[in-house]
Amino acid sequence: MKRTRQPAEPYRIKSVEPIKLLPRHLREEKIIQANYNVFKLDAPDIYIDLLTDSGTSAMSIKQWAALMLGDESYAGSTSFRNFERVVKDIFRKEYVIPCHQGRAAEHLLFSVLDTKGKYVLNNTHFDTTKGNTQHKQGIPVDFPCAESMSAEPLPFKGNMDIEKFEQFVAEHGAGKIPLVLMTITNNSVGGQPVSMKNIKEVSEICYRNKLPFFIDSARFAENCFFIKKNEAGYAQKPIKEIAQELFKQCDGVLMSAKKDGLANIGGFLALNDEKLYQQLTELMVIIEGFPTYGGLAGRDMEILAVGLEEVLDYDYLDFRVDQVRYFGEKLIEKGMPIVEPTGGNAVFIDAGKFLPHIPAEQFPGQSLAVEFYREGGIRSAEIGSLMLGGIDPNTGENLMAARELVRLALPRRVYTNSHFDYVAEVADRIVSNKEHLKGYKIKRAPEILRHFTCDLQPAEAVMSPVG
Ligand SMILES: Cc1ncc(COP(=O)(O)O)c(C=O)c1O
Repeated sequence: MKRTRQPAEPYRIKSVEPIKLLPRHLREEKIIQANYNVFKLDAPDIYIDLLTDSGTSAMSIKQWAALMLGDESYAGSTSFRNFERVVKDIFRKEYVIPCHQGRAAEHLLFSVLDTKGKYVLNNTHFDTTKGNTQHKQGIPVDFPCAESMSAEPLPFKGNMDIEKFEQFVAEHGAGKIPLVLMTITNNSVGGQPVSMKNIKEVSEICYRNKLPFFIDSARFAENCFFIKKNEAGYAQKPIKEIAQELFKQCDGVLMSAKKDGLANIGGFLALNDEKLYQQLTELMVIIEGFPTYGGLAGRDMEILAVGLEEVLDYDYLDFRVDQVRYFGEKLIEKGMPIVEPTGGNAVFIDAGKFLPHIPAEQFPGQSLAVEFYREGGIRSAEIGSLMLGGIDPNTGENLMAARELVRLALPRRVYTNSHFDYVAEVADRIVSNKEHLKGYKIKRAPEILRHFTCDLQPAEAVMSPVG
C-alpha cells in the first residue's frame, strides 16, 4: 500500500527517552547470561526494542492529561464510567468488565465456560488464548485460511477457513464447542487482517448453530483500517463506523488494550449476556478486583478512554500501517524473506526460509532473534516452534509450528523511520553472515508458554556434567 497522505510521522516529540547501544562484547555477555532467551534480557541493554507492540505505546498529550483526571475511588469511579462509555460506543456491548490485561480477560472467561474436553475454535489462537484454553483442559483448534500460508500478497490472510470451520461444527456439534473466537488482526499468522465478509460468515454460522462468538480484538483498529483500504464498500466509511459494524457481529469482545488501546496496561471483556456477566463479575471480585476497576487504576481507565478514540484516527493508522510497510520493504531489499503483505503491527521474517540449514527442531527463528541482538542490540521475538510448538498436554504429541517466523513488532508512536533504517542495516550484516548462524536446543522449559522463560543453549554445545 502506498503512502497516501502523511509524508512523515504525524506527531512531534515532546518528551524523550534516551537509548544506548552497548558495545558488542557486552551484548555477547548479556545474551549468554540470558540463556539465549531474549525475554530474559534487561531493557537498558537493548538499543531498539521490537519484542512486542504490547504495552509499549507512547502516550499522547491528551492521555498524559487524562491521567491526572484519574478517579481512584474503589467503586463507581468517573474514570470507569468514561471508559465504559467509550467501550460501549465502539464495541456495541451492554456490559463492560475492565481487566488488567488481555490474558486476565481470557482467564476470567475460560474460568466460567465449560471447556473441559471441549473445543475452542479460532482463526488462530494467540499463545495466551491457547494457554488459557489448555489450562482449563479445553482443546484449541485453529482454522487459518489456506491463503495464510501463500507467498502471494493477498489482502486478508488472517481469515478463518470457513469450509473447514463449518465442517468441524457439523461434525462435533454445539455441545462440544463452548466458544468460537476470531483474532483480529491474526497475530500468529503474521499480523494479517480479517475481512468483514469473513467475520460476518463466521457470525452467521455461530448464530445458526447457537455458538457463542467472541472477538479477540487487541488490534481491532488496524484491522478496520485494512477493511477500509482493501474491502469493497468501506472506502468512504470512517474507521469507527467500520468497528461498530464489525463488533455488532459478535456476542462478546476480549481485548488486550495494551495494543490498540494505545496504553501501557489494560484490557477488558465486553458482552451482552447478562447471566454470563453476573458469573464473570462474581469471579472477578476474587481474582481481578471490583467490577468497576478490574485490576486497573482509575488513571489507567482514563488513559484507555482517550486511547481507544485516538487509535481510530485515520492519519494515525495511515502512517502506522505505512511505517510497517516501509520497514518490511527495507528488509526485503536487504535479502530477508518476510510475510507479505506486511500487517498492521509487525514485520515477520520467515526464518525457516532464511536459514534453511537450521532444522525446525533447532529453532531457526530463535537463532535469528539472538543474532539481531548480538549484531545490533535489537530485540525481536521468535514466533515459530519454540513459541507455538511443544508437547501437547492433551495428546502428548510433539508439535511444530507451521512456519518459523521472527516478529519485529513496531511499538506505536515510539520509533521513527530512521530507527528502522538502522535495523535494516543490521539485517544487511546478518544476511552477509547467515551461513554461520547456528541452531539452539532447550535446556529447561515450563510446560505452558515455554518461550517466555525457557533456557536455551547452542545446539552443538556439549552439556557439562552436573556435579
Ligand atoms: C491477539 C492477542 N490476544 C491476547 C493477547 C494477550 O494480551 P496481554 O498480553 O495483554 O495479556 C495478545 C498479546 O499479545 C494478543 O496479541
